[in-house]
Amino acid sequence: MKIVAYGIRNDEKPALEEWKAEHSDVEVVDTAELLTPETAKLAEGADGAVVYQQLDYTRETLEALAKLGVTNLSLRNVGTDNIDFAAAKELNFKISNVPVYSPNAIAEHAAIQVSSILSQQKVMEHKVEKHDLRWEPTIRREVRDQVVGVIGTGHIGQVFMQIMEGFGAKVLAYDLFRNPELEAKGYYVDSIEELVSQVDVLSLHVPHFPGKNDHMIDADMIAKMKDNAVLVNVSRGMLVDTDAVINALDSGKLFGFVMDTYEGEVGVFNKDWSKDGLEDKRLANLIARENVYVTPHTAFYTTHAVKEMVQKSLDNNLAFIEGKEAPTPVKWPEV
Ligand SMILES: NC(=O)c1ccc[n+]([C@@H]2O[C@H](COP(=O)([O-])OP(=O)(O)OC[C@H]3O[C@@H](n4cnc5c(N)ncnc54)[C@H](O)[C@@H]3O)[C@@H](O)[C@H]2O)c1
Repeated sequence: MKIVAYGIRNDEKPALEEWKAEHSDVEVVDTAELLTPETAKLAEGADGAVVYQQLDYTRETLEALAKLGVTNLSLRNVGTDNIDFAAAKELNFKISNVPVYSPNAIAEHAAIQVSSILSQQKVMEHKVEKHDLRWEPTIRREVRDQVVGVIGTGHIGQVFMQIMEGFGAKVLAYDLFRNPELEAKGYYVDSIEELVSQVDVLSLHVPHFPGKNDHMIDADMIAKMKDNAVLVNVSRGMLVDTDAVINALDSGKLFGFVMDTYEGEVGVFNKDWSKDGLEDKRLANLIARENVYVTPHTAFYTTHAVKEMVQKSLDNNLAFIEGKEAPTPVKWPEV
């Protein structure tokens, strides 16, 4: 049995090697190349391919793989929106993803950034760097004094709730589909409007459904929020109207903003702009602010998560090859 692993980064190699050592009957060939119509030939003689890329899995790419008899495709990530599912179906592909790899990675990142914003940590760091060692006016807000609101009480939202409660905060939540256990504990309010009007920290943990919840947090919603609240988006850039947030930061309506996902992130994040200068001036503006934490979609990026992504994708691929039920096949959309 042979699996080709595309787009392998150096940080993924230890997990790959560990899996290989545990599966001596499987040959795993890895390449840093992404999967394209041209690089599909690297899969010649393989039984399956493991992949992770922002680049589209186009009909052409899928056809190039299928021509080589490779139709077992396992994503190392969650998102499947860059797959041409109509083509994949016609070509009889089997596809899996890794829907849950480490909710803690993302929740923990959000929690750390929230506490940093409330502590005005960036402000204090800049002061200390300049040897300005005065206390005032950089006073911290304790997390336990905040009411924290969570939109989306799935895997990540629930861990975030637990961490915030660990700090002593009061937590409220909104979800379209309520979790019965959380419901019994009385966390839910009935609408997003009700939630935002009561909370000091608002954190989004919902998927983005194009055309359905784009700019779920826009100028109107921000106007309904409490003054001096902190907004957290570690979910998907399109959920938040960035210009509206900038206006609210300028007016002082928002106390701070945590942004790991950005509506203009494709082609911008995970690139080094330090030499040529960041072309996206709006993003540069946000990064420069002392009450904003921008990270380039790295909330998930931990050793724990990377290991899960690599090894679970290989487990899925091997199951497809052996004709067994894969642990997490993708739910095929209507095509
Ligand atoms: N920044 C990162 O690195 C990173 C990594 C992984 C996931 N994410 C994001 O985090 C999101 C949440 O992940 P998860 O694993 O917790 O997902 P999940 O599916 O376990 O939970 C999502 C929850 O959102 C609820 N929901 C869906 N639409 C809603 C709406 N319009 N209003 C209110 N609630 C709604 C669902 O009922 C569900 O309870 C993902 O969709 C993804 O966008 C970000």
